[in-house]
Amino acid sequence: MSGGHSKYVPVNGVMKWLDARLPLPRLVYDSFVAYPVPRNLNNWYTFGAILSMFLILQLVTGIVLAMHYVASTAEAFNSVESIMRDVNYGWLLRRLHANGASFFFFAVYIHIFRGMYYGSYKAPREVLWILGVFIFIVMMATAFMGYVLPWGQMSFWAATVITGLFTAIPLIGEPLQTWLLGGFSVGDPTLNRFFSLHYLLPFMLVGLVILHVWALHVVGQSNPTGVEVKDMKKETVPFTPYATIKDLFAVVLFFTLFAYFVFYLPDYLGHPDNYIKANPFVTPAKIVPEWYFLPFYAMLRAVDFDIIIPFTSIVLINAKLGGVIAMFGSLVVLLFLPWLDYGKTRSGNYRPMFRQFFWIFVIVTILLGYIGALPAEGINVLIAQILTAAYFAHFLIVLPLLSKYEKTKPVPLSIADAILESTARAKTGGTP
Ligand code: HEM
Repeated sequence: MSGGHSKYVPVNGVMKWLDARLPLPRLVYDSFVAYPVPRNLNNWYTFGAILSMFLILQLVTGIVLAMHYVASTAEAFNSVESIMRDVNYGWLLRRLHANGASFFFFAVYIHIFRGMYYGSYKAPREVLWILGVFIFIVMMATAFMGYVLPWGQMSFWAATVITGLFTAIPLIGEPLQTWLLGGFSVGDPTLNRFFSLHYLLPFMLVGLVILHVWALHVVGQSNPTGVEVKDMKKETVPFTPYATIKDLFAVVLFFTLFAYFVFYLPDYLGHPDNYIKANPFVTPAKIVPEWYFLPFYAMLRAVDFDIIIPFTSIVLINAKLGGVIAMFGSLVVLLFLPWLDYGKTRSGNYRPMFRQFFWIFVIVTILLGYIGALPAEGINVLIAQILTAAYFAHFLIVLPLLSKYEKTKPVPLSIADAILESTARAKTGGTP
């Protein structure tokens, strides 16, 4: 799938001249025009393009917002209000950026679940997947720091809670937290460095996305059957116009939903407390992160017990550190997915048991998000513990066992076979 020989023919003298010196047009042509993609890609494969659009949107709106934003604890909140009221189209810029973050995560969750269902992480796409996990982690860091910038109550207290987690690390925890904050509590130095990093990290994301797409182009795109392309002529179509038009259509649909939120429900995904200026002396009744962090927040709070060495009272891991390990562990485990699910069959379409566990996993993640928004007390803690255990069990127990013992359905010999088979099924009204 990696392409073979370039079929690029410069269209005019200027392109010919440039091609001989820096073959940039050739690179674009080979990667986004002639690049062969499997002809059976379904709509779930359009989310990479949707994500690319959101990355661009976040960069453009963010850069303009930064021109008017003031990174000081005295001015930040007012500068954001002034963006909303005084800057031309400032209200639109801010709402695009804030809701854009939410929709970026919504799209990335679909993209990740798609990859998990179709086994896109399996050889030879491990590096592609790992780069994706790094992208996800950098996205989270960027969003977390961005949320602090408006300097509302939730900004301040979320930053206080999350940076407080670092104190859980034995020995170096407290100095590390002081170093990160630039002081003993969240204040001016913190806001300044968060602003600086919030500006920097999206450019790192761009770099990671370039590597991600490069890795994709080296190994070639997978497809819903999980069977590799065997016959380039029969089983692939050129990226342009086929995939470009399909991606564009999906981008328009997804952005229509996004626009609905921006224009009709602009504050729906935010928290009302963030319209109150940060006050270090007043703790909000409930501190909750943005919705896209909730499953991880639930895992953080699920560990409310110390882990002791059996038959002694020596604490091996205290509750706070345990929560931090669970939260970060839930991301680290994703890096090992290609080796935890090592079965040969890629696509969930041919793995009946896997498919059921996959949907259970999706529900577990959604429920974790739900419980993450509730107060960590009473039965909620127990439910969060069960769900956290189920999350890890999926990766560490279910997938290795399925890889070994699952009886999979026969996989089509080729993509062409799968297409012919589904066409025949459609013609006979469902019976093969
Ligand atoms: C800014 C974020 C991201 C962008 C712009 C992006 C972009 C893309 C694009 C353009 C594709 C090809 C089209 C498609 O399959 O949808 C793709 C495929 C893929 N992405 Fe991402 N991606 C992002 C985040 C992630 C994350 C967070 C993961 C996983 C943790 C991931 C894992 C994958 C995998 C495994 C494939 C290959 C799919 C296959 O061939 O079956 N990506 N990505």
